[in-house]
Amino acid sequence: ARVAVVGGGQSCEHEVSLASAAAAVEALRSVGHEVVAMTIDPDGGWRDAHGSSLGLDGAVRVLSTCDVALPALHGPRGEDGTLAALCELAGLPYVGSGVRAGALAMDKWTTKLVAGAVGVATAPGVLLTAVAAPGHAWTRPVVVKPVAAGSSHGVSLVRTRDELAPALAAALAVDDRVLVEDVVVGREVDVAVLGRPDGSRVVPPALEIVVDGLFDLGTKYDGTARFLVPAPLTDAESDALRAAAVTVYDALGCAGVARVDFFLTADGPVLNEVNTMPGFTAHSQVPRMFAAGGTPYPALVDLLVRDALA
Ligand code: DAL
Ligand code: MG
Repeated sequence: ARVAVVGGGQSCEHEVSLASAAAAVEALRSVGHEVVAMTIDPDGGWRDAHGSSLGLDGAVRVLSTCDVALPALHGPRGEDGTLAALCELAGLPYVGSGVRAGALAMDKWTTKLVAGAVGVATAPGVLLTAVAAPGHAWTRPVVVKPVAAGSSHGVSLVRTRDELAPALAAALAVDDRVLVEDVVVGREVDVAVLGRPDGSRVVPPALEIVVDGLFDLGTKYDGTARFLVPAPLTDAESDALRAAAVTVYDALGCAGVARVDFFLTADGPVLNEVNTMPGFTAHSQVPRMFAAGGTPYPALVDLLVRDALA
């Protein structure tokens, strides 16, 4: 098929999105698709594969020459349903979640509400706006994060009273709503869920992140984190994670592949967040999990494209 791959984007995950898009382009070409690569600059301008400016109208014209789009965009103005909306309005099939699931999952507060409603635990937390944040009193160590962001941008672990105000300011610099959550003690385990057009759900082996300290913006991309795939889990742990991941995926109404991230605690899985366009280089978590399950990266990308066209 003729596939438009859109990378970059206006969120703080611009660079990560470029890497995901480049990997997807290479994989799609390797299995015989015709690829039209497009990039969104940090300021929102669209460019073609040669770096020439397209403008939004030009971009829509190019998109309309394609059979399907693969939005390789992480974070707001991409993963949050905005690119899905553009494709919907243009009548172009696309890989992954639609407008609603993208928007719900990008918002860590609505994700928490939805998860709670279907019996999946999340960290106890409160939502603060910029107006409410200065009045938030210190009680105990917490994690402060922007409601909508990715790759841990603006996220802080607050251990002491003095760290609270700077952490709130850092999160509010990224989003005008922030979450203050209790610290969850557990192993970090990611679960990928792939929804097929026939309604079946494919869940490859889970992946455990082993990191010295926090899996934050630094350790996410500096190569020091280790992934254990398959994660060393008991059957009961594996079943509980899988059930929770599929329940949340379905409650949010996701499509294509999503990565559902958990802390595995003594009391079972606690949902951290859902990524509807998870990191997508060949060595990112989702491709690693599918490879462990017997689906190499090019076959996974091909499957996603075929499903979007089905
Ligand atoms: N938000 C980053 C790209 C991830 O989910 O992997
Ligand atoms: Mg994320």
